[in-house]
Amino acid sequence: MQFTIEQFWELREYIYKRTGLKFEDTKLFFFKRRIENLLDKYEFQSFDDFIRYIRFYDADGKVFKDLIGEITTHETYFFREFEQLQAFAEICLPEIIEEKKKIFTNSINIWSAACSTGEEAYTLNIILREMLDDYDNWNIKILATDIDEKCLETARDGIYSERSVKFMPVEYQQKYIYRKSNGFAVIPQLKKNISFEYLNLMDIKKIKEMSGFDFIFCRNALIYFDDESRREVVMSFYQAMNSKGYIFLGHSESISRITNLFKLKRKEGHILYYKE
Ligand SMILES: C[S@@+](CC[C@H](N)C(=O)[O-])C[C@H]1O[C@@H](n2cnc3c(N)ncnc32)[C@H](O)[C@@H]1O
Repeated sequence: MQFTIEQFWELREYIYKRTGLKFEDTKLFFFKRRIENLLDKYEFQSFDDFIRYIRFYDADGKVFKDLIGEITTHETYFFREFEQLQAFAEICLPEIIEEKKKIFTNSINIWSAACSTGEEAYTLNIILREMLDDYDNWNIKILATDIDEKCLETARDGIYSERSVKFMPVEYQQKYIYRKSNGFAVIPQLKKNISFEYLNLMDIKKIKEMSGFDFIFCRNALIYFDDESRREVVMSFYQAMNSKGYIFLGHSESISRITNLFKLKRKEGHILYYKE
């Protein structure tokens, strides 16, 4: 079946408007292959039928969500970008703890935005447990969101492949995951304070209703957005954060290229961005 460049452009534009995701012309064949899976699954007769359905009839957005799941990258694993996590654990977290103590509050709110299958959220929870001797005295909430429902289901199940847990330090593997017939499961305690929820990062209106985050992690997702969408998302993160809060993007994504709202801090060889 033919998938024309015009059909690709139409779909691409529609996807961009709804998600901020940008795709080059070179992705045409990749799109074709991925959408063919959906044509079979939902029994569409042609690409035109598919595009028309997505645009005008997909009231609950199910097919659109499936499409986004097919064309996005979900690569993630426990303790990804270790150095950055080290900065979080050893520099940022102690600072925030001191700030919280000053204002007599015990709540810490973290957002893992574009969490994919959840390894990042569980990793942050492990770090908090390891860093805070009095972990149980703190009211720690981790919100983990993604646009892909299938990823979120995996995240809620908390069962992972060997590849996912490969970079988790061995002593943490012994403490926080256990072997099951279908993979490695995170211990129930690690799940208690994490909620996995659907959120499209381009739903700026919704993000504007969110507030109180001490840390926002949005790593390896904004690289797929164009400059304008990226800026919009990061600016909405800014208003959702507490002052003194830290933002972490992926290694290849530079905050200062996106906005100058955040202050830069250099400490122990790390470059960190925070809200003043
Ligand atoms: C490569 S994963 C990053 C996972 C994790 N943050 C990490 O760094 O390991 C990118 C994730 O971004 C999600 N994503 C892409 N566009 C999104 C959007 N508009 N809103 C929310 N999530 C989105 C994808 O579904 C995917 O799970």
